[in-house]
Amino acid sequence: MATHPGIALVTGASSGIGEIYADRLARRGYDLVLVGRNADKLQELAASLTTTHGSKVERIVADLGEPGGLARVERRLETDPAITLLINSAGLIGGGPLSAGQLDDLTSMLNINVVALTRLAAVAARVFAARGNGAIVNLASAMAFIDTPAAAAYAASKAYVLNLTLSLDLDVKPRGVQVQAVLPGYTRTPMISDGAGLPAEIVMDADAMVDAALAGFDAGELVTIPSLEQVAAYDDWAERRVALRPHISLSQPASRYRAA
Ligand SMILES: NC(=O)c1ccc[n+]([C@@H]2O[C@H](COP(=O)([O-])OP(=O)(O)OC[C@H]3O[C@@H](n4cnc5c(N)ncnc54)[C@H](OP(=O)(O)O)[C@@H]3O)[C@@H](O)[C@H]2O)c1
Repeated sequence: MATHPGIALVTGASSGIGEIYADRLARRGYDLVLVGRNADKLQELAASLTTTHGSKVERIVADLGEPGGLARVERRLETDPAITLLINSAGLIGGGPLSAGQLDDLTSMLNINVVALTRLAAVAARVFAARGNGAIVNLASAMAFIDTPAAAAYAASKAYVLNLTLSLDLDVKPRGVQVQAVLPGYTRTPMISDGAGLPAEIVMDADAMVDAALAGFDAGELVTIPSLEQVAAYDDWAERRVALRPHISLSQPASRYRAA
């Protein structure tokens, strides 16, 4: 008889990518803790997952940008040994160009994309590593590789998630915890008005994106870029990045910077 995979805690479960993850994980036999602010959407999804897949579903209605809300989710992760998987999908795009100076919007975005994601990953890393199993999936974005004045802080937040996940893997993989960064390109969800106005050939359906990400997860990939056909292109980038390491912290400046 198949063993029960445990409980998956999914942030951003009320919409888009997180909602599809919840469905796919329920199909795989996980019970769920769904996190989001939209209580009605969470309730609707929970009812549908229970009816369709027979899953046990708990909801946490919480604003992850607010310390009390985030603390409630952290506590749940910390205290429930049945939670074996964290899907960090909550995220938002906003703030516009830095030169537009929308400081409050930028801060709200960073509080979700960076602070909440990091704190939840850190709690999961600690409790999963102590148990010697579990998995953490962080939603980054292909924007991690893109310079864009229109969404500078969003793109930077996703580069942060990629970098964080690479280091987290070094931290916890030896203790039995699987880690994955998922880097979708444009994905048809409310975040990008379901792709309205974008050429269809650069927008993926959320179902296809999540199925690909889960295939990457099953294959044990640390970084999954769902639309990237030539995986060697990413491997090259990763290798070149690592190859810089012996050269970027030395006692002397490079010769071109030395006074004549
Ligand atoms: N769609 C894309 O093109 C795309 C591409 C690459 C990466 N991504 C990443 O994929 C992840 C999911 O995006 P999506 O496309 O599924 O977006 P979405 O449909 O807009 O969903 C965003 C989710 O984040 C939650 N969220 C936002 N602010 C929150 C807050 N303050 N507290 C708690 N939850 C909050 C929302 O829940 P409530 O509104 O209920 O709070 C919602 O469930 C994000 O990290 C995004 O950056 C998306």
